[in-house]
Amino acid sequence: MSINYSEKIPNNVNLSEDKTLQRALEHWQPNYLQWWQDMGPEGAMAHDVYLRTAINVTPDGWAHFGHVKMPDYRWGIFLAQPEESRKVNFGENKGMAAWQDVPGEHRANLRRIIVTQGDTEPASVEQQRHLGLTAPSQYDLRNLFQVNVEEGRHLWAMVYLLHKYFGRDGREEAEALLQRNSGDQDNPRILEAFNEETPDWLAFYMFTYFTDRDGKFQLAALSESGFDPLSRTCRFMLTEEAHHMFVGESGVARVLARTCEVMKQNGIEDPNDVERVRKLGVIDLPTLQRYLNFHFSVTIDLFGADQSSNAATFYSAGLKGRYEETKRDDDHLLKNNTYRILEVKDGALVEKEVPMLNSLNEVLRDDYIRDSIAGVSRWNRVMEKAGINFRLQAPHKAFNRHIGSFAGIRVSPEGRIISDAEWEANVRNWLPSEEDRAYVASLMGRVIEPGKFANWIAPPPVGINRQPIDFEYVRFS
Ligand SMILES: [Fe+2]
Ligand SMILES: [Fe+2]
Repeated sequence: MSINYSEKIPNNVNLSEDKTLQRALEHWQPNYLQWWQDMGPEGAMAHDVYLRTAINVTPDGWAHFGHVKMPDYRWGIFLAQPEESRKVNFGENKGMAAWQDVPGEHRANLRRIIVTQGDTEPASVEQQRHLGLTAPSQYDLRNLFQVNVEEGRHLWAMVYLLHKYFGRDGREEAEALLQRNSGDQDNPRILEAFNEETPDWLAFYMFTYFTDRDGKFQLAALSESGFDPLSRTCRFMLTEEAHHMFVGESGVARVLARTCEVMKQNGIEDPNDVERVRKLGVIDLPTLQRYLNFHFSVTIDLFGADQSSNAATFYSAGLKGRYEETKRDDDHLLKNNTYRILEVKDGALVEKEVPMLNSLNEVLRDDYIRDSIAGVSRWNRVMEKAGINFRLQAPHKAFNRHIGSFAGIRVSPEGRIISDAEWEANVRNWLPSEEDRAYVASLMGRVIEPGKFANWIAPPPVGINRQPIDFEYVRFS
């Protein structure tokens, strides 16, 4: 399963044995590189960046670290090792041998699933393309670029499946993945959260914490797929995804640590004394809470409608499972199972019991929410340790929703249904205002000296790959 680097496209899928496929992908490759030049990290193509590159798919020692110019990064096609005599583990085909090819009757649905996942990968690179110009340190700049090149590789992962298993349709979809662009008026990315801007580094950390975690849950559900190549592709993508969420979690923690430190040094007890905190050039805690509210609510929309017949179809067909499907001890058919979802009734949110098969989006969303809340508690420990009387909190899942049964309903962060007037009167306290965003933007300035950090963020406790914090992570040219 080692990766062949002597070929134009590094891979562990014996690409050279399938000349037609190899040619098709080698034809797509220059278009990908052109997209990277046009839409990838701005003004950074000549930098030498200390990046990890996959060299193996086994858990130990899968990555190599070294300085590389991003356009020379070896993007490739890597599938996790096959699991012997793997089966379809859920749905109506449960017990059958896992499919090594696309079953005809599931072709359209599988294509849709793969295209939707594939579309998010280049979208996030586009959303983050200006951030390098205002990086708070070399260490952070390197992490941004690492996330970017790996999202690029995730696009490769999906494009491989499209080319190999979906013929001409697949090749057309692969082209379209390079043509849609985040935020484009005429040809936007498929999912709304991937058309939002990532305008500053606080937004970047929140995005990698919350939205890359959506990636983790989608990939985990797809890694259960009965379509074995999709499962193996997603399993290896998950290995890379962990670092993206680390960048987000540690990034927010470092912002919090710095704010607390500066508050302490200056004897500021009241976290709501925003004016004094801002005068000191750090990000006030209420603004952090509003960024959290925004990214949390936009991200949980990505899981789709709470009641969905598509989700039921994908599950029953064996295409997309639940998070950790095979670790659950039910019948994996779910025909008789129910699930409690929330609905709006007489001006209040009430629980309602519905068939589980139709609520699988909600099941995945709830698993996601549990996982993201765990990190919020870890952030709160930073403030607790510093003796600052403020705690972050994930908003209620009905807050600021645009998809599903809460769309168009005004709900406070605590989960109370409110009037438009109450929403308007309070929204500045709940979601980042123009002024908040302008303040955060005003802090963004490029710090490029090794070992130096912008005033608003604490250094990390350790460097990347056991390198010192003042290591030259990026060599500029
Ligand atoms: Fe990704
Ligand atoms: Fe990611």
